[in-house]
Amino acid sequence: MAASNTTSEQVREDAGLPGGVVALSLRDVSRTYETAAGGTVEALSHVSLDVRRGEFVSLLGPSGCGKTTTLRLIAGLDQPQGGELTLDGEPIRGASHRRGFVFQQGALFNWLTIRENIAAGLRARHVYQENAGRVDELIHAVGLDGFGDAYPH
Ligand SMILES: Nc1ncnc2c1ncn2[C@@H]1O[C@H](COP(=O)(O)OP(=O)(O)O)[C@@H](O)[C@H]1O
Ligand SMILES: [Mg+2]
Repeated sequence: MAASNTTSEQVREDAGLPGGVVALSLRDVSRTYETAAGGTVEALSHVSLDVRRGEFVSLLGPSGCGKTTTLRLIAGLDQPQGGELTLDGEPIRGASHRRGFVFQQGALFNWLTIRENIAAGLRARHVYQENAGRVDELIHAVGLDGFGDAYPH
């Protein structure tokens, strides 16, 4: 994938896009993988992208064009060979609770209940006690009332 969404403020305004502060910024980001066969795959080549606070962005493209690679870099689960990613001006160096990621495949802990799966992130951040009520709110929000103590299977 090679892309740039750098547009003038006027173009953005005409398109009804939010102006204002750039929150997430990708500059000239490149990521090449080595394949098992000993070759290389250029997944991202000099990709630049700005996402402003409050902006909702979709990455669209055919399978293999680099969408997941881009999201993994933003999540801090992978590092680019070239270019830079920043959030609020700070370089992205690794995973952070400020950048969430919903995986394409399920990513549940099979040995934990639904309630404990939802609570896992809160526990990792040591904020479970003050947010315990949120767990039941979320179970309700997705129509799983009564299944909090069930396991994913
Ligand atoms: N770990 C990897 N090793 C080798 N090649 C990879 C790896 N991950 C992705 N690729 C290759 O990089 C390209 C982009 O992949 P990906 O970001 O998963 O695309 P998308 O999510 O848009 O389908 C593809 O050609 C893919 O085969
Ligand atoms: Mg993908």
